[in-house]
Amino acid sequence: DKGGHKHFMAKEIAEQPRVIGEAIMHYLSADGRSIVLPEKGIDFTKIDRLTMVACGTAFYACLTAKYWFEQLAGLPVDVDIASEFRYREPPIPARTAALFVSQSGETADTLAALRFCDGKAATILSVVNVPESSIARESDLALPILAGTEIGVASTKAFTCQLTVLLMLALKAAHDRGALDHEALADHLSKLRALPSAFNTAMEQAQPMAAAARKLAEASDILFLGRGLMYPLALEGALKLKEISYIHAEAYASGELKHGPIALIDKHVPVVVMAPKDGLFDKTASNMQEVIARGGRVVLITDRAGAAEAAEDAWITLLMPQVPPLLAPILYALPAQLLAYHTAVAKGTDVDQPRNLAKSVTVE
Ligand code: F6R
Repeated sequence: DKGGHKHFMAKEIAEQPRVIGEAIMHYLSADGRSIVLPEKGIDFTKIDRLTMVACGTAFYACLTAKYWFEQLAGLPVDVDIASEFRYREPPIPARTAALFVSQSGETADTLAALRFCDGKAATILSVVNVPESSIARESDLALPILAGTEIGVASTKAFTCQLTVLLMLALKAAHDRGALDHEALADHLSKLRALPSAFNTAMEQAQPMAAAARKLAEASDILFLGRGLMYPLALEGALKLKEISYIHAEAYASGELKHGPIALIDKHVPVVVMAPKDGLFDKTASNMQEVIARGGRVVLITDRAGAAEAAEDAWITLLMPQVPPLLAPILYALPAQLLAYHTAVAKGTDVDQPRNLAKSVTVE
């Protein structure tokens, strides 16, 4: 049942404010001031390193979470693609927690990576959507994301719920390790609770996003740029777009532009720049100017403060509500998803069942 939507993907995008809210409430204590994990939980004072492993969109959720764990909790994090990790068989130092992120919980490479860590890592954690899945069952601690069944092959609500649960886990790590006191933790959590309403506000921009997507649909190559927490979001935007619209898209960390990809820029290659007005905004805005100076057309996704500084030169500006910088990756998933969705609709591709792709990759 598509609930009145044309595609499951559209339905699942629209469900996000609700399911993100449910995931937040699931892990909040009754007074809303601390985080409660299932069963035995995990004590991050006993952990010196976190190794995160996943595939595809779940891998991008891990890349985002790396910033959170490192910045909030001072915990060193490695992130790897499961198909690389499992054959590289890296050394796993003592006091390493291994964390596997998977919507289905059945991805063959991720499961093999988990089995490699079993008996080597201090503890095996997973962030999954399907609680009875193999990855959940074989973990010491499985954290459900509570996104509900995801039918569209392109992952949407699972990604934002993965991010939500990973952010809460990073906050818990920061608190355990003494980097956040009770007050600071409660303050972060109260801001997080406001996220579903910011998401609803962002959804009011669906029309301008659809209009931008109809223009992008004419391109054959599109670049995505982001810095810091927005770099994994740029990767996710490019993956979503190529999966369902079949337009060639690549993402780069903004600072990498001049190390090669800038050679691709001309008026035929639109560049989507994801840049809330955070501490790195000015750096990304200057990368945007480098694109414009070479005839590139920029789709700028930012908030009001960012638009006030940089919208003048952009081809199209999409406005997002202002949220604390730590929460921006969850919110900015929405324009990444909607640009891909409406581009695919404009091209007439099969949004829910894109060619060559399967929802769950249970073979290598
Ligand atoms: C992209 C997408 C895939 C999955 C990947 C991992 O939209 O859906 O990249 O994220 O195949 O799948 P899970 O999360 O089930 O392990």
